Amino acid sequence: MIAPGKNEPVRVETIVVPDPGPHEAVVRVQACGVCHTDLHYKQGGINDEFPFLLGHEAAGVVESVGDGVTDVAPGDFVILNWRAVCGKCRACLRGRPWYCFDTHNARQRMTLTDGTELSPALGIGAFAEKTLVAAGQCTKVDPAVSPAVAGLLGCGVMAGIGAAINTGGVGRGDSVAVIGCGGVGDAAIAGSYLAGAAKVIAVDIDDRKLATARTMGATHTVNSAETDPVEAIRELTGGFGADVVIEAVGRPETYKQAFYARDLAGTVVLVGVPTPEMKLELPLLDVFGRGGALKSSWYGDCLPSRDFPMLVDLHLQGRLPLEKFVSEAIQLDEVEKAFERMHHGDVLRSVVVL
Ligand code: APR
Ligand code: ZN
Ligand code: ZN
Repeated sequence: MIAPGKNEPVRVETIVVPDPGPHEAVVRVQACGVCHTDLHYKQGGINDEFPFLLGHEAAGVVESVGDGVTDVAPGDFVILNWRAVCGKCRACLRGRPWYCFDTHNARQRMTLTDGTELSPALGIGAFAEKTLVAAGQCTKVDPAVSPAVAGLLGCGVMAGIGAAINTGGVGRGDSVAVIGCGGVGDAAIAGSYLAGAAKVIAVDIDDRKLATARTMGATHTVNSAETDPVEAIRELTGGFGADVVIEAVGRPETYKQAFYARDLAGTVVLVGVPTPEMKLELPLLDVFGRGGALKSSWYGDCLPSRDFPMLVDLHLQGRLPLEKFVSEAIQLDEVEKAFERMHHGDVLRSVVVL
């Protein structure tokens, strides 16, 4: 599925996928979720390296591997991740590879039949029957999981669960508030529930979203279009505020709510992605007067090789209802329609199933 130019409708085209070079793999895609980031690529909001090969929340089967590939083999069922990290830089050596910028994504290029080079979205490009990636972008998981569910762990759902568990450090008995209950916020709710949080307070301006949030594990809901969410969260936590507040919208006003809705020693996790022009103003005294931590979560601060198989296993054991994130299965040529439904807030995730 190609995004040919800024704001032009996406379309299906024949592409040429070269054989994998050293440390690369060709993956036969089985499912790929439709994410906001794909829409941002199409709108030219990320960069202008058109044409893009969209799609990046994907799972499939390794078809062939190049020289030097040892971790995966043809026939393996894998979830794709955005970046093959280097393993050698300071971030990697300190155990924080999500901050690795020396990434080793596939260097060979996929092209259109006329030789035009394609830019794969987030180094993946999986709205396609096959895609070429770095072997380090492939994580083997239990093939008993449905591909549509597995693919979602490659991006938005991992970002939300990881924001709660990895970044927020949510643990047994904690109180958690999640502001914004789309796919990412709902995943943060499911992650908090899984981690044993005693209270999981869902905040949104849309009652439909709050109803879904309850099915993900929210114990309380607050419609912030009607009620002051800071007051409501304080009331629900004995006047203290939540131990962890997760902001999953990406706006200054919701970040402010998160800032004031936490316990004095609580943690704020920003996982919603702001735009470059957004600014935040806070009284410095209020920052001084509160301990705890202000954190942001990159890709759920995940380690794919640790987190993807673990979350798949928890799902297969019936402890993580990842299937609830799949709102509909669609065909490759329905991605444009799926963007519209996403824009109107009708779906958590549309997933292209191939
Ligand atoms: N207060 C509370 N909730 C809000 C507000 C607000 N002011 N504005 C929007 N929301 C809610 C919407 O009603 C919706 O339920 O936030 C949710 C956003 O969900 P989605 O649009 O489905 O986005 P999602 O995929 O969950 O991603 C959320 O995380 O990774 C980032 O780029 C992503 O910034 C985006 C954010
Ligand atoms: Zn590195
Ligand atoms: Zn995504």
